Amino acid sequence: MSKLRLGVLASGSGSNLQAIIDSIKCGNLPCEIAVVISDKPDVYALKRAELHGIKTETVQSKTFQNREAFDTELVRILKDHNVELVVLAGFMRVVTRILINAFPMRIMNIHPALLPSFPGLHVQKKAIEYGAKFSGCTVHFVDEGIDTGPIIIQAVVPVNDNDTEETLSARILKEEHRIYPCAIKLFAKGRLEVRDRRVIVK
Ligand code: GRF
Repeated sequence: MSKLRLGVLASGSGSNLQAIIDSIKCGNLPCEIAVVISDKPDVYALKRAELHGIKTETVQSKTFQNREAFDTELVRILKDHNVELVVLAGFMRVVTRILINAFPMRIMNIHPALLPSFPGLHVQKKAIEYGAKFSGCTVHFVDEGIDTGPIIIQAVVPVNDNDTEETLSARILKEEHRIYPCAIKLFAKGRLEVRDRRVIVK
């Protein structure tokens, strides 16, 4: 079976990227990472890719007139590498219609909350401050909204009374590393079907 070609977009430490690399290395994920793209130079995600011999590109937003022009460049690089699934892994930018139309229902994101609760940023802190008893993480397809696309997998994490943003984030991150490779594997095996906004696992 041919391997699904992934393009991973990251802006930071790349721990989710690492979880995907590890999953591929131990034979759990029938994929190969064709390219890792970052919008920031010198981030550890790029270093992780280099350490594993994966091609990297840096595309900085300041060199583009607008978000559409930036996304046009992303599409060019992703298509050049024959990417079939785009994986946002800690990618801290809102993507535009340009990227979404180039890869319809072929862009995944991981979000550190149980969507549709707490979309956006700093969501672990928001879950604690709100008094939620459970939070978690969500892998979803990307549409034009912010964290609004069809949900693929979620994992639930309890919020403890003594949790800080750091302790809750760490517990959620552990689950992110578990469910992101699972979601990609389901996609790679052709087991995800999107009906309206529901994702059916076949
Ligand atoms: C993760 O919580 C991810 O959900 C969020 O950014 C955090 C850092 O991810 N979007 P990573 O270590 O760079 O993969």
